[in-house]
Amino acid sequence: MVQLLQTHLATALDLTYQTKQAHWNVKGLNFIAVHKLFDELHETTEEFVDDIAERLTALGGQAHGTVQAASENTLLDPYPLDLIDSEAHLRRLSDSYAKWSAKLMKGIDEASEAGDDLTEDLLTEVGRGIDEGLYFLESHFQAVET
Ligand SMILES: [Fe+2]
Repeated sequence: MVQLLQTHLATALDLTYQTKQAHWNVKGLNFIAVHKLFDELHETTEEFVDDIAERLTALGGQAHGTVQAASENTLLDPYPLDLIDSEAHLRRLSDSYAKWSAKLMKGIDEASEAGDDLTEDLLTEVGRGIDEGLYFLESHFQAVET
């Protein structure tokens, strides 16, 4: 469980700064809306960092919570440093959220099989938040039927 949580801690830390990278660099017609959205997503993922790290240490592990450690253990692909356009950031963040969501579902199963109800519950809560974030991001691309 500690190793599983270590991987998700690294991923949460990575996503925390992917959302800030988008928040700081985005430009485009809907600037204010996405600039604020990316910061809200950042705040949510930052809470997940804390929750995951503290579950990990409660289990007797040692949290690897530095940016350098996170870069070695994250489940996400490197975020491009040259993105500017709001659509590019929305699509790239959607990819990260979808990827982590899928890994969280696997993590929930692993925690369940290990009989660790509290870790299962934590990963389920994180998964719910990440799926909500994915919905906010992807809704920019979904056409409305009229
Ligand atoms: Fe800011």
